[in-house]
Amino acid sequence: MKILVIGGTGRLGRVLNVILQKEKYTIIPLGSNELDLTGKNVVDKIIRYTPDYIIHTAALSSVDECERHPNLAYNINTYGTERVANAALKLKVPLLYISTDYVFDGKNPPYSEDDEPNPVNVYGKSKLQGEDFVKRLSSSIILRVSWLFGPEGNDFVDFVLKADEPISVIRSQTSKPTCTIDISYAIKNLIGNRVSGIYHFASPPSVSRLEWVESILKLNKIKKEIREVNWDSLNVPAKRPLNSTLSTNKYNKEFGEIRSWNEALREIIDG
Ligand SMILES: NC(=O)c1ccc[n+]([C@@H]2O[C@H](COP(=O)([O-])OP(=O)(O)OC[C@H]3O[C@@H](n4cnc5c(N)ncnc54)[C@H](OP(=O)(O)O)[C@@H]3O)[C@@H](O)[C@H]2O)c1
Repeated sequence: MKILVIGGTGRLGRVLNVILQKEKYTIIPLGSNELDLTGKNVVDKIIRYTPDYIIHTAALSSVDECERHPNLAYNINTYGTERVANAALKLKVPLLYISTDYVFDGKNPPYSEDDEPNPVNVYGKSKLQGEDFVKRLSSSIILRVSWLFGPEGNDFVDFVLKADEPISVIRSQTSKPTCTIDISYAIKNLIGNRVSGIYHFASPPSVSRLEWVESILKLNKIKKEIREVNWDSLNVPAKRPLNSTLSTNKYNKEFGEIRSWNEALREIIDG
């Protein structure tokens, strides 16, 4: 089976390519140089690759960049996704779209697939509107994930390891840090079993940013001073949901338990 990975140059995409190739899938990874979702003739360009399956992980993924550049955020995350969905529709192939815990407002966790989204920032709104285009396809999967980290680095774990002291951490923001290796195996399970609909995938347990930072430092055997701060003092443009913890009961029931982020982080540190 030939799988087009749109966003194949991203942090999740690069890990996904390797894992799916090991499963004997033929992977065509595309970054924005090969396919700009905001450019011309996106649908035709996708069709020319003649994939049997499309995985769409591309996004303007920086929450603050989305808030600073809302037009770009909607153009990539919403209308880019519309173009991908239209191509899948024309090709009559299934589409798996990566979405986010930030579609929720963070007031009533944990969130199941049936809960009503209510995003609090441009990133969440643009990704949720992207979901609406994907839902038009009967054989599509929307996979919501949270707080990514992984072997590709350039993520929150890296930020903590490189940060000057004291590290400023938002007071009581909570979710589940999730490893890109584990998401990639989840994608393999979902597409291999030909399921459709919304799925939540996130690594247990749910933690505050403070606990997450403390664990990153402890597992790397590094000591740094941490300071808990409020949003206002950080001076970032985008609001975040306070507790966007995803419930993964549906995934657990169908595919089994998800390993902890602690175990996944230890595997990455040990190489
Ligand atoms: N990072 C998180 O904590 C997090 C949390 C929840 C959900 N997610 C979702 O998970 C997915 C993967 O995230 P990630 O962290 O792997 O993202 P990432 O590292 O920022 O990678 C983004 C990908 O999107 C591509 N892209 C950006 N603009 C594009 C455009 N105009 N046209 C085509 N491709 C474009 C990039 O291509 P180039 O690099 O070639 O430009 C890259 O391959 C995203 O859908 C994101 O919304 C992320």
